[in-house]
Amino acid sequence: MSESPATVFDQILAGKIPCHRVYEDEHVLAFLDVNPLAPGHTLVIPKERKAHLHELSDESAAALGRVLPRLCRAVIRATGVGDYNVLQNNGRPASQAVMHVHFHIIPKSGRTGLGIGWPAGNLEPAAAVEMLARIAVEIRDGFGLDHLALVERPDPRPGPGQALVRVRAASLNYRDLLMVEGRYNPRQKLPLVPCSDGAGEVVAVGEGTSRVRPGDRVCGIFAQGWIAGEPTRDMARTTLGGPLDGMLAELVALREEGLVKTPEHLTDEEAATLPCAAVTAWSSLVEGGLKAGESVLLLGTGGVSLFALQLAVLSGARAIVTSSSDEKLERARLLGAAAGVNYRQVPEWGAKVKELTGGAGVDYVLEVGGAGTLPQSLQAVRVGGRIYLIGVLSGNAAEISIPAIQMRSVRVQGVLVGSRASFEALNRAAELHRLRPVIDRSFPLHEARAAFEHMAAGRHFGKICIRL
Ligand SMILES: NC(=O)c1ccc[n+]([C@@H]2O[C@H](COP(=O)([O-])OP(=O)(O)OC[C@H]3O[C@@H](n4cnc5c(N)ncnc54)[C@H](OP(=O)(O)O)[C@@H]3O)[C@@H](O)[C@H]2O)c1
Repeated sequence: MSESPATVFDQILAGKIPCHRVYEDEHVLAFLDVNPLAPGHTLVIPKERKAHLHELSDESAAALGRVLPRLCRAVIRATGVGDYNVLQNNGRPASQAVMHVHFHIIPKSGRTGLGIGWPAGNLEPAAAVEMLARIAVEIRDGFGLDHLALVERPDPRPGPGQALVRVRAASLNYRDLLMVEGRYNPRQKLPLVPCSDGAGEVVAVGEGTSRVRPGDRVCGIFAQGWIAGEPTRDMARTTLGGPLDGMLAELVALREEGLVKTPEHLTDEEAATLPCAAVTAWSSLVEGGLKAGESVLLLGTGGVSLFALQLAVLSGARAIVTSSSDEKLERARLLGAAAGVNYRQVPEWGAKVKELTGGAGVDYVLEVGGAGTLPQSLQAVRVGGRIYLIGVLSGNAAEISIPAIQMRSVRVQGVLVGSRASFEALNRAAELHRLRPVIDRSFPLHEARAAFEHMAAGRHFGKICIRL
């Protein structure tokens, strides 16, 4: 997925990637003819270029001309070809009755071109437009990063009470990586569009939809069925990015109830970071009762912890951050962290954090580490303090000292992201305080695999986004 077009062409020419047609002429070295309407491309190397010509009526040709930009954009996004010329009809205008059915995108910088094939036969463009696929990333035919595939899907239609959303950005959560690797739910049905988090614009609505209108900027909520109150078992089965298809798709149809309006001051990329990580930080800390003057321990500098840092600062609380990196600790200080501890250099960081609070311990811990960090978090928390169990970055089965909880009246609370009501409350605060998420890096859709690899490498500070 992340290969350059040249590499892709090399593979096509070597017969490793099936495609519609490959041929050479005096102008370009090779064309990859991607047929967006046929998932099973076949490799043909015709010598007779006349074989590509089909008779189309003026009307059909015009209709084809209208969909060209969309076809071209789809291929450009799929392949990463940025700077291009589009040759229609072998240089002849699209309105001519005799239409060359291949449109070639030729990078200005090189001799390698891409063509977009139109299916042979009498398929009317209007019908083809209906079938025209939008691009999505799927986990297919097995788990693992090697099983991430860019696929073309027919446009979903918004059903009654649904909205069709043109997703412009998605963001990664550690859960999405686990999902791709098959470690979150090995029984998850495939193919699956990964990523719980995404933001974009409503482009159409189904019958009876009234909460949102075309043109509204929206984010999907993590658990589509969880509107307010406590979670239930059924709501937990409505999470995007598994078991339901997620947001790494250009077009998604979601229930209108499963959407929130995007805070106006945020870009789509920024908004795409909110549904899981920010809502989790909000429902733990703010809804958990954090007050000005209290202290909170945040583990690492990933998505949840940096949102929690921003919310702690907004709340007037004192945040202590741990990290594997002094440089990241410094960046956390610039965001308002009162102190930092390098957990690689200080294995007994729980005692160190306690020391930083004058020996009392912190009021709250946002536990994203799991098995490997919980014993130290218990060291760091004060008598009567709270630990929010959020993540399992270092494993999910821990041996814990029950007296360390029971004899010290520590409250340990599991967290599952949050409801739509929590998301909306977070958005009000974000708008009021012009809160802007910390984005580490953003990748184009065709480099989705590289985005997941970036997360797996753990070098990020804050959120990783994907543009669609
Ligand atoms: N329960 C829920 O509702 C919920 C919601 C969101 C996330 N989560 C879970 O929370 C965890 C964090 O998610 P995320 O999306 O924020 O992940 P993330 O963005 O990938 O953050 C990971 C960061 O955590 C730090 N880290 C990694 N291993 C660590 C360890 N052993 N000890 C301390 N810090 C460690 C690293 O920070 P440094 O590089 O600074 O060391 C790393 O960059 C995941 O397990 C995720 O599944 C749960």
